[in-house]
Amino acid sequence: MRDAAAGGGTTVRLGILLSGRGSNFVAIAESIHEGRLKGAEIAVVISNAAEAAGLAKAREMGLPTAVFESRGRRREEHDADVIACLRAHGVELVCLAGYMRLLSREFVAAFPNRILNIHPSLLPAFPGLEAQEQAFAYGAKVTGCTVHFVDEELDHGAIVVQRAVSVLETDDEHSLAERILKEEHVAYTEAIARVVSGEYEVRGRKYVKKRGNGE
Ligand code: GRF
Repeated sequence: MRDAAAGGGTTVRLGILLSGRGSNFVAIAESIHEGRLKGAEIAVVISNAAEAAGLAKAREMGLPTAVFESRGRRREEHDADVIACLRAHGVELVCLAGYMRLLSREFVAAFPNRILNIHPSLLPAFPGLEAQEQAFAYGAKVTGCTVHFVDEELDHGAIVVQRAVSVLETDDEHSLAERILKEEHVAYTEAIARVVSGEYEVRGRKYVKKRGNGE
């Protein structure tokens, strides 16, 4: 990624993909607006579901939006539309924010190590749907959230940021999910900041920070 955070004056264009409520998207947008996430701007918000609440929030913010309904469409065809839209908006980093659709091989290959996802558990524990409920039902004492690069396997690519959340005696799955979500909002901004800084390498499945001068 470009050296935007180092003061190069460039801005990395983000493409947000969402299917629902969009609280992670809003957290990213607020971080940018409030100057806590420098060197990034939202180029477009795309949804596979016209009724997604996050899409309405994006419109209210005056951001460019697009809808490509996925229901009943072949994954590769649908993804080709999404990829074309991302390219048309000059997107360099794709952020999945509650995007409830697996990406095709072609999509992952079109943005190698340029797609981030957020997952509400400490991967590799509890991949897949309803990760907060899975952790609660399992009796985990600590869970959390993970922001990772997307590869061809579900909830699998190199981990950029994780934040831990203790499971309290007083928790139910809803209160636990709420506390995890608060950490998600912090984690996503941190992960995007790290990626736009360009100060890292992906070695195998490891995200490794580059050493700065004098370290
Ligand atoms: C979050 O819990 C995220 O970790 C998961 O889907 C949920 C999306 O929430 N991938 P929101 O739409 O960002 O509020």
